[in-house]
Amino acid sequence: MKTILVTGGAGFIGTNFVYFMLKKYDDLKIINLDKLTYAGNLENLDPLKGEKRHEFVKGDICDRELVGKLVKGCDAIVNFAAETHVDRSILSAGEFIQTDVQGTFCLLEAAREAGIRRFVQISTDEVYGDAGDNPSSETDPLMPRSPYAASKTGADRLAFSYFTTYDLPVIITRCTNNLGPFQYPEKLIPLFVTNAIDDKQLPVYGSGKNTRDWIFVEDHCDAIDTVLHADDKHNGEVFNIGANKEFSVLEITSFILDYLKKPQSLIKHVEDRLGHVKRHAVTTGKIKDALGWKSKTSFDDAMGRTVQWYLDNESWWRRIKEKQEDYQKFMKEYYKNR
Ligand code: NAD
Ligand code: DAU
Repeated sequence: MKTILVTGGAGFIGTNFVYFMLKKYDDLKIINLDKLTYAGNLENLDPLKGEKRHEFVKGDICDRELVGKLVKGCDAIVNFAAETHVDRSILSAGEFIQTDVQGTFCLLEAAREAGIRRFVQISTDEVYGDAGDNPSSETDPLMPRSPYAASKTGADRLAFSYFTTYDLPVIITRCTNNLGPFQYPEKLIPLFVTNAIDDKQLPVYGSGKNTRDWIFVEDHCDAIDTVLHADDKHNGEVFNIGANKEFSVLEITSFILDYLKKPQSLIKHVEDRLGHVKRHAVTTGKIKDALGWKSKTSFDDAMGRTVQWYLDNESWWRRIKEKQEDYQKFMKEYYKNR
């Protein structure tokens, strides 16, 4: 049986990844290390109670002793754990630098000591900054525009340096915006879907013409699995991951309102995000040519399944929106003049 250490496996993508991998492989054990910050939710993993192939450990990726113990005996590490919300990084960047950079450093050190066979660093397309006229390719310069993106860039290049310096078998992925079940309702889609269900306003930053490239979370998990199993000749490489489905915030908002049969009048244009990136989009030719991976889910299917999940799982998001102190504090502070 192979064992992998998944960090951040109680968050949005991590949860989906744990389910994806356990469903796909019978002979796989996952050690799931998560600090359970405001964004981590153990309830996501309730159906895995009693599942011997999944071991949950509450802890911090910055805890070198703990990480060292867990990594021993693991074949690979997939590092999802991070502070992930751009808006929160604008209010307060410290935790981003601590977890995203220092935490990755701690994992890399432990991986080096244990002689790990594959380290997948989950980076992001945010590292490129604004894509401008052409989708960003793996060789483009990195021009992060928010403290979140800059922290992720630090981690991305630190991981690379452990390959060039110590020959650690690192592969770095840079994915576009994910959508799907279990996304914390501070991010665009879950925030707007759940607000619209309650007939609350949808705060569109600035013009709403900013575009993002959207991928269904299950397709992202499939791509990570592909990278995890890639030949050693790809060590040290970067792979963009995306579905080449670019839509503006207003287009996403209209889709949500149409699906829920709610009026466009719920849209409220509010003060823009500082440093707001106009366009994120990536080229995906490299992962297709080198590893044979491409996304499978159509945009309509992905959006439909996502919105429907929030309709079917009201208690999941209401517990956060109506009872979680951290959520309410952040929403009050960040949206007070919006
Ligand atoms: P998320 O915020 O939903 O989950 C992050 C998880 O990490 C949470 O469970 C949290 O408890 C955990 N965590 C935070 N700090 C930790 C620490 N110090 N130690 C251990 N666990 C800790 O995030 P997500 O959207 O699932 O993103 C996962 C990863 O994917 C991140 O690295 C993010 O940068 C990257 N990414 C996300 C997207 C996206 O669209 N969501 C796109 C590209 C890349
Ligand atoms: O590109 C990958 C990145 O995608 C990940 O690395 C990040 O972790 C993830 O949070 C996401 O970042 P974004 O900033 O693109 O996601 P967010 O959902 O916060 O915003 C998407 C777009 O919607 C962006 O243009 C800002 C806009 N927006 C967002 C919110 C929350 C609004 O107009 N109003 C809002 O209230």
